[in-house]
Amino acid sequence: MTENKTFTSNFGAIMAAVGSAVGLGNIWRFPYVCGKYGGGAFLIVYLIFVFLLGMVIMLSEFIIGRRSQHGPALAFNHLVPQRPRWRLVGLLGIITCFCILSQYFVLSGWTLGYFVQSITGSLSKLGTDAAAISSNFSQFSTSAWASSCYLVIFGIATMAIILCGVQKGIEGVSKVLMPILILLLLVLCVRSLTLPGASKGLQYLFSPDFTKLTSEGLLAALGQALFSLSVGMGVMIVYGSYIPVSDNLMKTTLWITISDTLIAVLAGIAIFPAVFSYGFDPAGGPGLVYCVLPNVFNSMGSSSIIFSSIFFLFLAVAALTSAISLLEGITSWACERFNWRRVRATVTVALITLGVGVILSLSNGAVPTLQLFSKSLFDFIDGVNSILLPPLSALATMIFVMWIIDSRHLRDELTNHGQLRAAYYPAFRFLGRYIVPLALIIVLLTGLFG
Ligand code: TRP
Repeated sequence: MTENKTFTSNFGAIMAAVGSAVGLGNIWRFPYVCGKYGGGAFLIVYLIFVFLLGMVIMLSEFIIGRRSQHGPALAFNHLVPQRPRWRLVGLLGIITCFCILSQYFVLSGWTLGYFVQSITGSLSKLGTDAAAISSNFSQFSTSAWASSCYLVIFGIATMAIILCGVQKGIEGVSKVLMPILILLLLVLCVRSLTLPGASKGLQYLFSPDFTKLTSEGLLAALGQALFSLSVGMGVMIVYGSYIPVSDNLMKTTLWITISDTLIAVLAGIAIFPAVFSYGFDPAGGPGLVYCVLPNVFNSMGSSSIIFSSIFFLFLAVAALTSAISLLEGITSWACERFNWRRVRATVTVALITLGVGVILSLSNGAVPTLQLFSKSLFDFIDGVNSILLPPLSALATMIFVMWIIDSRHLRDELTNHGQLRAAYYPAFRFLGRYIVPLALIIVLLTGLFG
C-alpha cells in the first residue's frame, strides 16, 4: 500500500491538530488552575502566554516539519546536514512522546471505564455518597484487571486508527470526532448554565482576582499553555510535515490556538457552574473528574445517567484524538529511523507503549513494588512529564529553529515562498529568539529546583 502522507485539506489539518491539542489537560486541568489562580486574572495571562509563546513554538515545529517533509527522526539532519548531533533533539521529543503516551493510555483507559460505568448505570447507583464514589474510583484505578483491560481496549482503538493511515485514519477520524466533541461540550454547557446558582461557578472561573495570581500561578499558566498546545514533543513536527504546502501556516496555527483555548474555557463553563450549583468544592485532575463530578451528576436525579455518559464520552473522545497524535508521532519516527513499514512500526510501538502503560497502571496499587525514587512509577513519570521533558524538548527545538538553521527556511515557509505577506515575521523572530527560550528556562529551573 502506498501511503499518501499529507492531509487532504486545511480543515482536515486543523481538526487533526486541534484533536491533538484538546485533551485531558483542557478539561480537568485548565478550569481548575484558572479558578485557583485568580480566574479572569489568570485567563488574561494565560491568553498572553498561549498566543505569544505557545503559538511561536507551534509555528516553529510546523516549519521544521513542512520544510523538511520529515518527522523528528530525519527533519533535524535534513535542515542542517553538517551538524548531525541536532538529531538528538528529535529523539528527545520522541522520548517525551513515549513517556506522555504511556501515561496518557492509563488515564484514557479510566475515561473509557467510567463511560461504561455511566452508561450501565453502576455509577449512578452510588448516589450522592461521597465516600462510596471515592472508594469506587480508588478501587477502579488500583485494580489490576479492570483498568488494564480498558487501557488495552483504548490502545487498540488508537492503533487501529493509525493503521488506517494519515488521510483515512487520523484526518478522517478527527474530522468526525472533533465536531461531535464540540457538540457534546455544548450540551453539557447548556445543562450546567441552566442549573440554579450557576453564576457562582462562573464567578469562580472568570471574576479577576489579581491577588491570587502569584508567581506560582504565572508558572502554572505558562506550563499549561505549553502542555495544552501539545508543543515540545515533536508531534507538531510530524503534523507539520503533513500540512499541505499551500496552507498558510500562521493562519493554521492561529485557528488551532483559538480552538484549543475556547474549548478549555467552555470545559470550565460545563463543569464549574454545576459543581457550585450542587454545593461541591472545586478540584482539579482525576479528583475532579472521578470523585466530584459523579456526585454532581448523581445529584441531577433521573438525568444523571444521560449527563454522566455524555461527559465521559466527551472525555474519552478528547483523550483519543490526543493519543492518536502521540502514537503517530512515535510511529512515524520508527518508520523513518528504522526504515520500517507503517504497519510494523505502528504495531510495535503500540505494543511497547501499551506494555509500559500496563506497568504504570499496576504501579498505582495492584503491584506496589513498582517504584522509582520512592514514588510509584506512575507518579514518577507524571513528574517527569510535567516538569522536565516537555520544556526541555521545547527549548532545544526553539534554539534549533531560531539560532541554528538558516532563517531563509523560516521566511520561505511563513510566506509560502514569497506568495504571502508575513508582516509578523520580525515579532515572531524576536519572541522565538529571546523571550520564548527565556520563559522555557525559567519553567525548567523552577520545575527542577523551585
Ligand atoms: N495537549 C494535550 C492535553 O491538553 C496533552 C498533550 C501534551 C499532548 N502533549 C501532547 C497530546 C502531545 C498529544 C501530543 O491534554
